[in-house]
Amino acid sequence: MKLAKSFPLFSASVTLGQARARVAAVLAAAGKEPAALESRLLLEDATGLTSLDFVIRADETLGDPQAARLLISLERRLRDEPISRILGHNDFYGLDLIVTRDVLDPRADTEMLVDRALAFLRERRLSRPKILDLGTGSGAILCAVLHATPQAFGLGVDLSPAACEVAAKNLDRCGLASRSSIICGCWADAISGCFDLIVANPPYIARPETAALAPEVVRHDPALALFGGEDGLDCYRLLARDFGRLLAKGGAIFLEIGARQAASVVEILSSEGFRDAAVFKDHGGRDRVVTVRNI
Ligand SMILES: C[S@@+](CC[C@H](N)C(=O)[O-])C[C@H]1O[C@@H](n2cnc3c(N)ncnc32)[C@H](O)[C@@H]1O
Repeated sequence: MKLAKSFPLFSASVTLGQARARVAAVLAAAGKEPAALESRLLLEDATGLTSLDFVIRADETLGDPQAARLLISLERRLRDEPISRILGHNDFYGLDLIVTRDVLDPRADTEMLVDRALAFLRERRLSRPKILDLGTGSGAILCAVLHATPQAFGLGVDLSPAACEVAAKNLDRCGLASRSSIICGCWADAISGCFDLIVANPPYIARPETAALAPEVVRHDPALALFGGEDGLDCYRLLARDFGRLLAKGGAIFLEIGARQAASVVEILSSEGFRDAAVFKDHGGRDRVVTVRNI
């Protein structure tokens, strides 16, 4: 194993505590931060132990099979694979969701869209709101909104059959299968009816921005989830054409956007008759969500 030769990390009788410290040091040296957290997650995954076990059993020896598994994971991380893809799951809005190579790794920034959508649903107090998630991917947004809204029903759509499978598994994993459905198709082409809440985090990276993407993103998130054409706005243009027929009276649309796309997306929505758009910033102060209502 390459890494084993370069770093004598796990020579005979290394303890769990030492292994954790050494993995953290290797990660930190490679600029993988937060190294201590990533080390803990990789160790827990390799050993099947919990955080508490690591406190209580820090002096126990790391077994050979566990060390081998840990080295493989560490090598993957050093080759820029995101930690969630190595572990096969990630936290989104407090839910532990399956993440595979076929879906976008759900981002913390997208939680902001969920916050806004939930605030809208609380304000509307509908007895059984209907929710549509276009480009559902892992189902992250749909899972989070349905989980926090017990009477709601949700429909998720994705073009990728593999992503649809992951979304269905995640809805099931969150106990939401009976209140949701997943359809494989192109945006709203196969959808009829009206929805009280429409959410979408479409691919919005402009082609010229590809070179600036982090290796974690460009090598590991599916291209179908990332790129929105030359100016990044292709999907908003396609989606906006259907919003008029899909949005119920009193309903709202929440769209995640790239940091410099607010004005363009507001204009696209306006050209489809949706005036009075509002733009919300994320915790980093960047424009992140555009919303319009059908008043
Ligand atoms: C940026 S990802 C968002 C995934 C998820 N909603 C999230 O926020 O983590 C965009 C998603 O749109 C899907 N997608 C791309 N083109 C599509 C199309 N024409 N119709 C439906 N879904 C599409 C991709 O497969 C991908 O899952």
